[in-house]
Amino acid sequence: MCGIFGYIGKNAVEMCLQGLKLLEYRGYDSSGIAYIKDSSLYIQKSIGPLNNLEKKALQAKGDIPIIGHTRWATHGAANLENAHPHTDITQSLAIVHNGIIENYTELREKFQFNQLASETDTEIIACLISYFYEKDLLQAVIKTLKLLKGSYALAIIHKDYPDQIIATCNQSPLAIGYSENQAFVASDVHAFSGINLHSVILKNYEVAVIKKGKALFFNQSLQSIEKKAEKIFIDHHSISKQGFQHFMMKEIHEQPITFQNAIANRFSLEAGQIFFHELQDLKPLLKNINHVVIVGCGSSWHAGLMGAQLIEKKAHILTTCEIASEFRYKDPLLSKKSLVFAISQSGETADTIAAVKIAKEKGATVVGICNKENSSLEREAEKTVFLHAGPEISVCSTKAFLSQLAVLSLLANYLGSINNSLSKEYISEYLHELVQIPLKIQQVLSDKDQLEKLASKYSHYDQMLFIGRNLMAAASLEAALKLKEISYINAQAYPAGELKHGPIALLDETLPVIGLCLNSLTLEKTVSNLMEAKARNAPVICFTYEGSKDIPSVFQDTIYLPPTIDDLAPFTVCTATQLFAYFVAKKRNCNIDKPRNLAKSVTVE
Ligand code: G6P
Repeated sequence: MCGIFGYIGKNAVEMCLQGLKLLEYRGYDSSGIAYIKDSSLYIQKSIGPLNNLEKKALQAKGDIPIIGHTRWATHGAANLENAHPHTDITQSLAIVHNGIIENYTELREKFQFNQLASETDTEIIACLISYFYEKDLLQAVIKTLKLLKGSYALAIIHKDYPDQIIATCNQSPLAIGYSENQAFVASDVHAFSGINLHSVILKNYEVAVIKKGKALFFNQSLQSIEKKAEKIFIDHHSISKQGFQHFMMKEIHEQPITFQNAIANRFSLEAGQIFFHELQDLKPLLKNINHVVIVGCGSSWHAGLMGAQLIEKKAHILTTCEIASEFRYKDPLLSKKSLVFAISQSGETADTIAAVKIAKEKGATVVGICNKENSSLEREAEKTVFLHAGPEISVCSTKAFLSQLAVLSLLANYLGSINNSLSKEYISEYLHELVQIPLKIQQVLSDKDQLEKLASKYSHYDQMLFIGRNLMAAASLEAALKLKEISYINAQAYPAGELKHGPIALLDETLPVIGLCLNSLTLEKTVSNLMEAKARNAPVICFTYEGSKDIPSVFQDTIYLPPTIDDLAPFTVCTATQLFAYFVAKKRNCNIDKPRNLAKSVTVE
């Protein structure tokens, strides 16, 4: 995992810290920088978020090569010893690494590196480069790479090379950017800043020697290779909390707008039609697919679970949703008639990208659903449907999740319309309800006091159980994930009908059960399950829609939400459970935007 950044040019330290800030979504356990100045190597590291490094970072003038790192710990605790950059025993070179070296123990024993300063898999790379170094750094790097098993993106500086950075990668993304006066290397092209930049994405095993104004590329046989550079302009949106205490709350409040952005220009209310311009070329294929698979991780997987139900129901196509990390190792049954939707807010999640590669190998067509342009997912997928939700900063996903859901809802109806499973009248009715959703989300936001009160009442519990049926089963998973991510409460979720097959044994007065009863088809069944929980002394909370009948008054608390059709109910209930999780976490004084142990984007397996 982790973010790596390298820069050559003026104000190097400032530029490096600025780049790292934009990569902090990859981890914030510790950070560090290293640069070469007057033939000496300088290293500075800090534990915790990047602000801690910023406070004490050394400054250096002149055009110097600098590398930086923001870490999500894999091998070794988040302490100064394990923070990157790492160096060799002679302190001649420094490296930053994103990925995992799987054979590092074997290499350490083979080369008898007995005096390592850290517990990381990375330090071994620095030691090997130093071991092979005989006045030719590129040679030494290539000899080292040939021994490594696993994934890596690396940036390397050496005292004998005061004007260059060497960069290379395998299975971890790495972008190079350069203009006349500067050069960049970063895990993500969005960390660059500047105008008239030429950018190049490194492929596996390629090595770049980066100097100010240029980059040279080599393969592992040290042959020079040509790579076409693309001109890019990275626009850094101004990122502020806009008066909210946390990014999460700001992002929840953006949802009426981001929902509209996700569906904008994708339907005509008058004509009762849905269109995805980006999928126009695929239309003949979409009419003929016989199998849809959705892959994703975390909240994206939850959005996929709901999307799968909707696609199967609307388009009458067999649809499954799989966790990307499982899908990649199961030898999936796919064919030219399979369509794979890969969902990822960041477009960088390693398991999702790996799943996409497998699907492509098996002949399936892959469509990405993504929030970030120029991401790895966009590069790998045949077509990409963008969410247009704007940058999501808080680690737990809120507005991007809801936008994924909005896009999937439209896609399900789109597939149903192009294969004639749905009539124009049906689509028209659905669209009329869809356009009401931003107002209903707004209503949930306006009534947030009821959720704050609920949170105050239950924030002292150490466990909670969410249940629901149909789309509400996946909504329960998402509600539980939000709560556990930011409040550290042991929150679990089950399809309500499964309660009796095991989880019911856990119930007593210490385990509140929260029923998401916003599916009219199964409402009575879910209410019965809540009654069963009540009979076992569990405090029961019911989320339902205004006007729903038969909600027993014996429940401890009932939260009423604006009514809509079953297929669109996830939008209101997920907004409500996001707010509930937020207020619980706030009450428990948790670090809401940067919860412990998490990262915004998970770029290791
Ligand atoms: C991390 C984040 C989650 C996110 C998941 C998938 O675990 O903390 O909020 O849902 O990654 O991220 P993606 O960018 O692929 O949607």
